[in-house]
Amino acid sequence: MKSYLSKMGQRTPEPPISWLMQAALSRPRLISLAAGFTDNPSLPVAETRAVLNQILRSPKTGRPALQYGSTAGDPALRKLTAEHLQKLDFQAAVSSSFSPSSLLLELKSRTRAKDEDEKIYSPGRLLITSGSQQLLYMTAEALCDEGDIVLVEDPTYFVYLSILQSRGLRARGVRLERDGLDLAHLEKILQSLKRSGELRRVKLFYLVSYFQNPTGVTTSFEKKRGILKLLGKFERAAGHPIYLLEDAAYRELSFSGRADLPVSQDVQQRVTTIPPSTLAAPGTAERVIYTGTFTKPFATGARVGYGVLPEPVFSAVKHIKGNHDFGTANLLQQLFAHALASGAHEKQVTRLQKRYARKARVMKQAIAKHFPPSVEWWEPAGGLYFWARLPGNVPTGVRSKVFQTALKNDVLYVPGELCYADDAARRKPNHEMRISFGNASEENIREGIQRLGRVLRKFL
Ligand SMILES: Cc1ncc(COP(=O)(O)O)c(C=O)c1O
Repeated sequence: MKSYLSKMGQRTPEPPISWLMQAALSRPRLISLAAGFTDNPSLPVAETRAVLNQILRSPKTGRPALQYGSTAGDPALRKLTAEHLQKLDFQAAVSSSFSPSSLLLELKSRTRAKDEDEKIYSPGRLLITSGSQQLLYMTAEALCDEGDIVLVEDPTYFVYLSILQSRGLRARGVRLERDGLDLAHLEKILQSLKRSGELRRVKLFYLVSYFQNPTGVTTSFEKKRGILKLLGKFERAAGHPIYLLEDAAYRELSFSGRADLPVSQDVQQRVTTIPPSTLAAPGTAERVIYTGTFTKPFATGARVGYGVLPEPVFSAVKHIKGNHDFGTANLLQQLFAHALASGAHEKQVTRLQKRYARKARVMKQAIAKHFPPSVEWWEPAGGLYFWARLPGNVPTGVRSKVFQTALKNDVLYVPGELCYADDAARRKPNHEMRISFGNASEENIREGIQRLGRVLRKFL
């Protein structure tokens, strides 16, 4: 029988993440170093209860939180979030390796600008969403038609690739190196798209800029400016703006301030130079869409995210959100407004930074002890992930012997190949793995890596 589902309904398979989560739930002995869950014991139960008690202490304060709100978001939360973002960028500019004094001057003048459009940290440009995931989805809806092209890092966040696939969009992967994007490769791709007449289909570049999912890589401010410059250079030939969508989901999960931890010099250096966002890049804010989230640095169950968007994208996305849900859950928005204002959010971030820095160290020591020396691995300076590459192209995909043996031995990782776009311009690498220390306990990290190490030694 011919399918009665829409084209999108037909071409959207079950996302790989559901399968991985299901596998974790159905095998009680299994240690999942795959799922994107966060650290369970540090979820802020008492802090959240205290804030909710505050909000619900009287009908006068409680009723607005239990009522519908506006599509763009709670005005208090928009203001506090804009200030929060501004603070993050100012702090980053002070310790920036790129001309901190001129950056600070630029930021100050942009913050005080008379023209509303010039103000980069204005609540008027900020949209509150149901997790940053919703914003990623809606920007694709607002900017892209079927067959359009989105440039992504190679590898990238695999759920974003599923959005593109589901919406009938094409992805082109731009090589990612240990220190961020390969700008020469980006230029080469833009040039080849220009030559083939496809540049007009390129709508945006998606960049996971801090402690990237899946590789842990942070792209420097210089490189981010380089990307914006290149996109600008090709705009005339494209015939329309090409946006940089900066996804800063892991920005606050840096191990900064954890200098007491014995990390390698290379990581130490990367920890102390967390770059400002692309919003701070002079003269290009009208081409930047920035997304952040409150889930990763506070509680993943309280799905509130946000975005800073230039016009006309801001209005288009807001209208689309009007159709999706006409506003993010008001109670959750008020939770974050109170948590930001009272300092509870900052406290939780500091707690998580320490916790994850410790877990990352445990994982590093276990990997160094148990993985065969021929496996190359990248130690992150924040976020939740290690990235490992097997030699000689030994496959790690879902059907590979390595993956199946790991599963039999009750340990799970994310196969690297899931994080690569379907891009005919190159062969998809299939010999890597993302290993997360986010959810597993320290004991399970040690045990899980030992199990994985045993499996790897069998095949290498
Ligand atoms: C890179 C990246 N962006 C966005 C998200 C979505 O996060 P949320 O919707 O919880 O804000 C995730 C979640 O894992 C992620 O890894």
